[in-house]
Amino acid sequence: MISQHTQTNPSQLKGKDFITLSDWQPDAIVDLLDQAQALKQQQKNGGTHPYLQGKMLGMIFEKSSTRTRVSFEVGMKQLGGDAIFLSSNDIQLGRGESIEDTAKVLSRYIDGIMVRTYAHESVETLAKHADVPIINGLTDEHHPTQVLADLLTIYEQKGSLAGLKMAFIGDGHNNMCHSLLEGAASVGMHISVASPKGFGPQDDILNNARNIGQATGSQIAITESPQAAVEQADVVVTDVFASMGQEAEQAERLKTFANYQVNEALCQHANDDYMFLHCLPAHRGEEVTTEIIDGAHSFVFDEAENRLHAQKAILKNVM
Ligand code: CP
Ligand code: NVA
Repeated sequence: MISQHTQTNPSQLKGKDFITLSDWQPDAIVDLLDQAQALKQQQKNGGTHPYLQGKMLGMIFEKSSTRTRVSFEVGMKQLGGDAIFLSSNDIQLGRGESIEDTAKVLSRYIDGIMVRTYAHESVETLAKHADVPIINGLTDEHHPTQVLADLLTIYEQKGSLAGLKMAFIGDGHNNMCHSLLEGAASVGMHISVASPKGFGPQDDILNNARNIGQATGSQIAITESPQAAVEQADVVVTDVFASMGQEAEQAERLKTFANYQVNEALCQHANDDYMFLHCLPAHRGEEVTTEIIDGAHSFVFDEAENRLHAQKAILKNVM
């Protein structure tokens, strides 16, 4: 068990949106991790858990996905429910129907909506007008379901979260870094972010994380030095230099981030038993070398698997 306290009352979470990690109390995040662990164990032991019998999840995708799409759909089926894939190219949203009307219409058919899109405000608008819980499957600003899986993976390997040090190297302004800041702060992990000048985290998200960290003991450092960030880190994390939607900047970003590759020389600064994480998809030879991502310290495929278990915990609570 990760938590040292009374569990959050599950009925309080029914209908709650999962849009950013900072929308959830730190205790509730830890409870989700405990539940994800229990669901994983149950599944590995061959048990069934049809908590969502007869429930339907709609999954709106405006960007590509392998892990998010498959893990949500499989997760719903394992919970006794089902999921419908809604590509924005195929639904009227892609032809200009408003988010407001889409939210109201879908709420009449389905019990929850997972959405992957560009502008974070689109998810907030969807949540404002839907009568069913909204789960953020990635926006330009946040990727909270991924970070829940990351925290579960760290807990499995390290046996604790509070007081560990995470280093994020690369684009500090992207969805992964933002959600890692909020996630680390929620569980009392320290986090150092190293990015080139001008690519640090968004101010409001950094402030949110710092506020959460005051209560949990998490310390946050922002630097331009990858070596300083990785110094004595327990967990080293990176992500692509150009996220979905930034394809036109790819060549320029490769130059800007050239000194921010996670490689053997950089990881010499981390603790001997450091873990490497990457949400995937990865660009080997760009943000990370093959020797690191395919090496002994890498847990990227456990991390990918844990999307399934972490998301089932979210779905079980909010639907
Ligand atoms: N990590 C992640 O969200 O992967 P997908 O883009 O494949 O969903
Ligand atoms: N930052 C990456 C994460 C992909 C899962 C992107 O947005 O493309």
